[in-house]
This record gives sequence, structure tokens and C-alpha cells, in this order.
Amino acid sequence: MHNTVLLEEAVKYLNLNKNSIVVDCTLGYGGHSSLILKNIKDGFLYAFDQDKIAIENANEKLKKIGNNYEIIHTNFENLKKEMNKRKTPNAVLFDLGVSSPQLDNAERGFSFHKDAPLDMRMDTSQSLSAYDVVNGYPYEKLIEIFYKYGEEKYASSIAKNIIKNRPVKTTLELAEIIKESVPEKYRRKGHPARKVFQAIRIEVNNELGVFEKALNDALDIISVGGRICVITFHSLEDRICKHIFKEVSTLPKELSGMPIIPDKYLPKYKVIASLTPTKEEIEENYRARSARLRVIERVR
Ligand SMILES: C[S@@+](CC[C@H](N)C(=O)[O-])C[C@H]1O[C@@H](n2cnc3c(N)ncnc32)[C@H](O)[C@@H]1O
Repeated sequence: MHNTVLLEEAVKYLNLNKNSIVVDCTLGYGGHSSLILKNIKDGFLYAFDQDKIAIENANEKLKKIGNNYEIIHTNFENLKKEMNKRKTPNAVLFDLGVSSPQLDNAERGFSFHKDAPLDMRMDTSQSLSAYDVVNGYPYEKLIEIFYKYGEEKYASSIAKNIIKNRPVKTTLELAEIIKESVPEKYRRKGHPARKVFQAIRIEVNNELGVFEKALNDALDIISVGGRICVITFHSLEDRICKHIFKEVSTLPKELSGMPIIPDKYLPKYKVIASLTPTKEEIEENYRARSARLRVIERVR
């Protein structure tokens, strides 16, 4: 897709050759997967997504390139379970968050610019939706998620106003309540609903918990010499990635002063890169402004 962020860079860092076995954990509309498939003529691509509509679209694209791929319609929290039944990958990609088509499709309820029922489920067969969070969660729990997942400093006044206005049925109703809950001055710094919408989306899809598990699983299943590329779109995801990469690529403190370190204690992974999009990419695609790509390699 034209506006896929860090497309070439991420694929370049996967270090593919024509026989590579690749997992794309976030197929989306198949931008990365198309490019991957073009690079692995005799290899194989496994692509995960929990969004049925995205899969249908991506499949149309991929089948024009080759047939050496399998789409796995499930949450990537099942990565290990699914990959245990398949070939060992030498490259894994995560391009986290919602896709541009998900954001642009008003009905999905992700956007605070377009009126729609409060939904935000990436997997539309899941039961918990944004409506349940906004209208069902107690005051303290709303504050907690707005703080934790949105880093929203007006969490408590927003939560109070949501409760006063229940039931809140649509995205624009919610956006208006949020706007009314923050001081005039704060409204000028980007849209005041952005952080709370992000927080609700993370909660609905359990995005951080699922990512942490899946990233640890990817580290476990990847072959020696293989690489994992992660593209994140906000600091909460990036922090998880940075922390896990650091932990698995450094010597435990107790060993760092030892003159000779037995092989079995040496870190199994090496951090390869951490980069942000170019100015041109940000100009072309506003979503890119907060993106970051991190790359790690399994060395033993
Ligand atoms: C940013 S988009 C990926 C875009 C894709 N790289 C491309 O080039 O078109 C993220 C995709 O990952 C999917 N996704 C996010 N979290 C997921 C999860 N936990 N399990 C499975 N799919 C997930 C979303 O449904 C969305 O389609």
C-alpha cells in the first residue's frame, strides 16, 4: 500500500533471501507482505491478521505475486501455537496498530473525526467493544486506562463527564464529551480526543498484553541468524519492545564483570537497529510521525 510506513526499511532489515521463511504478524492490507513475497521466490510467507476484511483484500494482492504463502486468520497472541505446527521462521515482522483502511472506514469506530457506533474491535467477532468500555467500566477503571494507555492528564474529568452522559453511543458524542472536559488551552494541542481514543482502543484489543506475549514468542521461535523487525506507533508499544530487546541482548549484571563468560550465558540476541521515518515519509504520511522501527537478530 502506498502509505505503508517504513516499508522498504523494515523489509530490508529482515535480511531476506529467496529461501526465507517469513512471518508477517500484521498482514493488514498486504503492503509489507507483497514486498516480502517478491523477495522469497522459493521461500514461504505466513501472514497473521485478526481482521477478516483486511485478509480478503490482502489475499487479492498476494495471489497475484505467488502462491507460496498462507494467511492465518487469528490474533498473533497465538503465534507460537500456530507456528509450532509449521516451518521455523528466519524473519518475523510486526507492524503494530490499526491500518489506515481501518481508520478510514468510519463504521469501525476508530476515528474521532467520523461518526459511528463506538466499536474499535480489530477482530469483529470479539465481544468487548468500545461501547462496553465507555458505558460499562466504573469511574476508577476509566481513569486508570486513560492514564495508563493514553497518558491523558485530564483522565478524571473526562471519566466523570462520560459517566454523567451515559449512555454514550457514538464516536462523535464521545469526542464532544472529551472536548468539553478539558480546558480551552489544551484543546489547541492537537485533537483532545486523540489520547482517550487510543486508550480505549488499546483496552478493547488488549494491545499491549498481546504484543508483549507475541514478541517474546517470536524471540523463542526464530531460527539462529533470523531477524525480528517491529514497527510501533506510540511510546507505550515502543517501550515494551525496547525493554524486551535490551533484556535479551545484554549480559545479566552479575556476569558482566567476569573475565571469561561461558557460552551458555552469552546473550542469544543482538540489537541491529532503531530508526524513525524520514522527513519525506512523514510529509507523505502523517501517521508516520510517531513510528519507530526496531530490529533484533538471534545470534546463537
Ligand atoms: C498497521 S496495520 C499493518 C499494515 C501492513 N503492514 C501493510 O503493509 O498493509 C496492522 C494490522 O495488524 C492487525 N493486528 C493488530 N493487532 C493484531 C493482533 N493482535 N493479532 C492479529 N492482527 C493484529 C490489524 O488488524 C491491522 O490489519
